[in-house]
Amino acid sequence: MENLLNKDVRGIEISGIRKFYNMVLKYDNVISLTIGQPDFNTPNHIKESTIKAVEENKTTYTHNAGIIELRRAISNFVQNKYNLYYNPENEIIVTCGASEGIFIALKTILNIGDEVLIPAPCYPGYEPVVKLCGAKVKYIDTSNTNFKLTKKLLEENISYASKCIIIPYPCNPTGQCLNIYELKEIADFIRDKDIFILSDEIYSELVYNDRHHSIASLHNLKDKTVIINGLSKSHSMTGFRIGYTLAPYYITKHMIKVHQYLATCATSISQYAALEALTNGIDDSINMKNEYKKRRDYVYERLIKMGFDVVKPNGAFYMFPSIKKYAQNSFDFAINLLEKERVAIVPGDAFSKFGEGYIRISFAYSMEELKTALDRIEKFIDTL
Ligand SMILES: Cc1ncc(COP(=O)(O)O)c(C=O)c1O
Repeated sequence: MENLLNKDVRGIEISGIRKFYNMVLKYDNVISLTIGQPDFNTPNHIKESTIKAVEENKTTYTHNAGIIELRRAISNFVQNKYNLYYNPENEIIVTCGASEGIFIALKTILNIGDEVLIPAPCYPGYEPVVKLCGAKVKYIDTSNTNFKLTKKLLEENISYASKCIIIPYPCNPTGQCLNIYELKEIADFIRDKDIFILSDEIYSELVYNDRHHSIASLHNLKDKTVIINGLSKSHSMTGFRIGYTLAPYYITKHMIKVHQYLATCATSISQYAALEALTNGIDDSINMKNEYKKRRDYVYERLIKMGFDVVKPNGAFYMFPSIKKYAQNSFDFAINLLEKERVAIVPGDAFSKFGEGYIRISFAYSMEELKTALDRIEKFIDTL
């Protein structure tokens, strides 16, 4: 009977990050730098407001788009931080994590056979959703442009089949960001094209030497952009499953239907936690960011000293060094490192074929863990 199941679902696989993470669980004494999970606890005031929401029986369905107080808080937050204006009444949907936001956006935009442009290496959560929508991915290889999408790369890859482009900055797995000039160049090129933009800004609060800019704030691109964001990374709230979409009304009014039939609404008590985060915890991410920055500098310097070729990330909490000179593919490198030195990292091919020849190291771990892991990595590469 299995062959009778939906072919698109049979055709996708669980993400390479999770596959590797599950393998790692079989080994003892492993330091795992695999998962994109902040190692900070959710701030106390947010936890307390969650408990209060339960005690006050705020445990019912909410408006499909989320409680209006939270949508207003999101609207203020993105206006103050990123100069974006979205009407809380009809341009914002609170979703079950950014993941659901990606799903409802792509489902709303794509028809069968459409093409989605994705700069790669990239987060493995996009391609399967595109495929579930019956559409196709065209990857844009950014490995020769410091992992940045450029106008030239866009010119070379865009075609009449391109229905949507994903702008994934700050980027998982490379940590790269586009500065305002780079973003403007892309915005300028896209503005008169009939193409939607899905801007995944989930790491927007974790930009180190600049501030985050959204493509939707440039050249009236708001009109064709769906922004994906959420509290998973900014407030260390991955398990609360709260994300949100920001999009013009003519898109939101269709996305809300997909969201309604998929989830009805995001979890009520998590919405109250998110409300606390985006009112009294607006700058909660600053301390975490300062800590990540120290770790980034430490990991980067260690890797450079070991002779790795690595781009210094300006956002998120990942480092993506090349392992090309060690003459083994990224999966073998990761397995050998795991078996010999008990350090787990993610093979680059989990981030599309353009990630082959690299490994992803997450530095969302304590300094002690990072130090031990890097000592072990150093010992391992000395044997190669
Ligand atoms: C680039 C990117 N987008 C989206 C997500 C999904 O976020 P959430 O946990 O809020 O669904 C992640 C999670 O790692 C991510 O790295």
